[in-house]
Amino acid sequence: MRLAGHRGAPAWSPENTLASFAKALELGAQALEFDVHLTADGRLAVIHDATLDRTTNGVGRVADVTLEDIQRLRTDGGERVPSMDQVLDLAAGKAFLHVEVKDPSALRPAVDLLRARRLLDSARISSFWHGALRESKAVEPGLQTGVLFSAAPIRPAALALDAGADALHVCHTYITESLVAEARSHGLQVLGWTAQSAADVGRLFHLGVDEIVTDDPGMARQVLAHLAAPAAPPRPRSPEELRMDAERASIQALMKSRPGDAGTPREPGKKPSW
Ligand code: G3P
Ligand code: CA
Repeated sequence: MRLAGHRGAPAWSPENTLASFAKALELGAQALEFDVHLTADGRLAVIHDATLDRTTNGVGRVADVTLEDIQRLRTDGGERVPSMDQVLDLAAGKAFLHVEVKDPSALRPAVDLLRARRLLDSARISSFWHGALRESKAVEPGLQTGVLFSAAPIRPAALALDAGADALHVCHTYITESLVAEARSHGLQVLGWTAQSAADVGRLFHLGVDEIVTDDPGMARQVLAHLAAPAAPPRPRSPEELRMDAERASIQALMKSRPGDAGTPREPGKKPSW
């Protein structure tokens, strides 16, 4: 069961920053999820919102500003908005990459970049824009895709099949045994987002999803390690218990050696005759 850092490790470091991705890796994330938008000069900025307002000290739409100008801004904690290239520099070869295309216009540049960086085998494009995922399959059939949704559709697998996708990327509260079973029957993977607590991680573990996306990979890794650990071995017996074990064994051996006594339970209330 793979563990992915959602926008890095935002429980520890500002979302979608190089510091956050590095922290997620340090905490044991095997995959990183990040969001991409196209800038005014056709570059890929790693930022969740369509505007700069919430996560930086700038304002306005990402699509109206060049990457260079976006990178003059500061996020919480004094970090900068990274380009997708910079995230790949940090994470390529260290983690699987979940590239969430926030706007369909970012799809082609993101696929082109993964191809140019020879990362098609270690990445998956995900999106709430399922048409963009279908386009991804048309231009790069070997690149995995995942349909994002936050709902309980009548036929969840149909969402993936319509988009030609490989995986269901589902808001974790909507994941059920029947959704997992339906995905399995169509050969689809299931990824649950975004586990915030140990209870969320435990529920997804027991449902048997393929991947858990979390804001806190450290917490999730500890929970998974605990759940996957074999049952604790019995505690060692004390010298007194060992002495009593030996005594019991010798009495049983003695009973077996007495003709007629072997294997017959004694009558209730009757004391042994020796
Ligand atoms: O991994 C899926 C998740 O990132 C989708 O929601 O809003 O956090 O991008 P959001
Ligand atoms: Ca996302």
